[in-house]
Order: sequence, then structure tokens, then C-alpha cells
Amino acid sequence: MPLKILVLHGPNLNLLGTREPETYGAETLAEVNQHLIALGLELQADVTALQSNHEGVLVDAIQQARLDGIHGIVINPAAYTHTSIALRDALLAVQIPFIEVHLSNVHARESFRHQSRLADVALGIIAGFGSTSYSLALRGLVQQLNKKGV
Ligand code: DQA
Repeated sequence: MPLKILVLHGPNLNLLGTREPETYGAETLAEVNQHLIALGLELQADVTALQSNHEGVLVDAIQQARLDGIHGIVINPAAYTHTSIALRDALLAVQIPFIEVHLSNVHARESFRHQSRLADVALGIIAGFGSTSYSLALRGLVQQLNKKGV
């Protein structure tokens, strides 16, 4: 049975490609997702992706992930990284290992981006590699899950 991986994208990431391309790159969200699905095939992981601008929709998706038997989550919580106790609580509630991802190096930016509500409960964090951050996260997550024998 292949691993089931959920990729979650938070607010404003639907605008990738046109949103501050000097910070977030020129690739669109559809291109990022296509690349992750293809990489998933290579890694024998079934990748599904969801983007939402709404915190509650992301919380619902995390809760649903447990019911759907998702083994691991790659999440770019975007601005909710810095504020959302609800996302933290949802991820803790479902106990699904997750990697926090950022396109930009949040630690090289404004101080309010240095704090994450999720980082200390994540399996790992990857930031600063543009869309490659997601690929690195997917590879790392699959490797860890395989190591655990999931
Ligand atoms: C981001 C960094 C966040 O601080 C910001 O609010 C985003 C995107 C990133 O991928 O670099 O929307 O998560």
C-alpha cells in the first residue's frame, strides 16, 4: 500500500506565480502541485494537495486526514504559521507527522515571521529553497515514514 501524503497550502498561496515573485518565485501553485504528485509517484507515495485562504477549512482538512488514513502532512501554513493555535491543536489532535514548509527563509525576514506556532511539534522544517522546499519536505517525510515502517 503506498504512503498517503497530504500537502496543505495556506492563505495567499493560490497567488503563487504572481505574488511577490522575487520572494516566492515564478512557479504557480498548480505547477508546484503537479511536481509533487510526480515526485510522489517516484517515491511510491500518493500525494493529494489542498489550498485554502480559510483557517477553519485547513483545520477541517487536518481532521479529515486522520479519517482518510493519511500517513504524513506537508504544510505551508503561510501567514497562519505565525498566529494559528487552531492549526497547531488540529495537528496535535490527529497525531499525523508533518513537515512545516516555507518558500522563503522566514528567519531572514521581518521579526514577526521568526515565530512559528507549529515548528516545535513538527517532524521537521524546511525554508528558503523556493518551491524546492516542498520537494525536500516530501522526500524527507517519506524517508522518515519508511524508516518507521509505516
Ligand atoms: C510563507 C512565509 C510566511 O511568513 C508568509 O506569510 C507566507 C508564505 C513562505 O512560504 O515563505 O504567506 O509561508
